[in-house]
Amino acid sequence: MFYPLARHLLFQLDPERAHHLSLSALNQSAQCGLSRCADTPRVLPRTVMGLSFPNPVGIAAGLDKNAEYLTGLGTLGPGFIEVGTVTPRPQPGNPKPRVFRLPEVEGLINRLGFNNLGVSHLLEQVRSRSWHGILGINLGKNFDTPLDQASGDYVTGLRQVYPHADYVTINISSPNTLHLRQLQDAGALGSLLATLKQTQQELSDQHGRYVPIALKIAPDLSEEALQDIAHLLLQYRIDGVIATNTTISRERVMGLALAQETGGLSGAPLHARAVQVVTTLAQQLQGAIPIIGVGGINSPARAQAMLQAGASLIQLYTGIIYKGPGLIREIVRSLA
Ligand SMILES: Cc1cc2nc3c(=O)[nH]c(=O)nc-3n(C[C@H](O)[C@H](O)[C@H](O)COP(=O)(O)O)c2cc1C
Repeated sequence: MFYPLARHLLFQLDPERAHHLSLSALNQSAQCGLSRCADTPRVLPRTVMGLSFPNPVGIAAGLDKNAEYLTGLGTLGPGFIEVGTVTPRPQPGNPKPRVFRLPEVEGLINRLGFNNLGVSHLLEQVRSRSWHGILGINLGKNFDTPLDQASGDYVTGLRQVYPHADYVTINISSPNTLHLRQLQDAGALGSLLATLKQTQQELSDQHGRYVPIALKIAPDLSEEALQDIAHLLLQYRIDGVIATNTTISRERVMGLALAQETGGLSGAPLHARAVQVVTTLAQQLQGAIPIIGVGGINSPARAQAMLQAGASLIQLYTGIIYKGPGLIREIVRSLA
């Protein structure tokens, strides 16, 4: 009721400014106790990757890159929140403007390029958080780390966040870090997963706690590449897979004013492809590894479609921008 007006005002602003303004307002109202009580609805609670999720609807990576808005986001009722992508060292990301709205189709294009304040800053926020739901921390590599040394960045990140995360996501699927997606190629991926699995084992022994690892993949992969990835996930006993990140395809937005901006497209135009990727993964993995489905979920029906395709959990980002922060509770309620 209230969101269409707020959205109208926010959409007059530059997307990044609107983003920080609305999340700061959400945090402040939560801190003052103004927002709805912060209970997390228990609807379809489920154990995935060994973790007990109160409900299957989470907030996707990128919305809170530095873990600064957990208090506010927690009041929206998500079953889990994934923060990041965070890189070992802080970095500014690409020049602005770098986020573009495609309101005709409820889409966004972003080429942020892992702008973030670095893993130490993120961990300071995480340590002092007042929201204690399930927290995923999403890791990337710095833009100036050569690709053949990328695994070093992921291992550094994993070691640092391990004691503080409920699960860790390895993001090799952003289209906005040069050549990053090449890490999805079978050869490179096999050696990255082997290194990560070995580090996870070491850290598990050291901390006496097993923290699951999920791999986040792109929607722009052939069926054959998806099959290769599924085999590697099984071979290296990776704990989960998140599908999908944003797309470089413009097939569904051709002709729109900003469609040719460089970057990853998210939101409604991504949904069909994301569901297709989840369907393929579900066929390949046969329930052995859980799938977290993300891409264009902006309604209960689309949430349902993603779960029916084989996702155990779902995540939202762009849908929240277009439909408002009440979307999470609306979807959770509909699942009941
Ligand atoms: C502005 C923006 C920034 C994003 N940043 C990240 C990120 O840092 N790491 C990541 O793994 N995904 C990032 N994503 C991708 C989302 O997590 C999600 O995979 C994708 O947007 C598809 O979901 P959606 O259609 O619900 O937005 C970002 C998406 C948007 C729109």
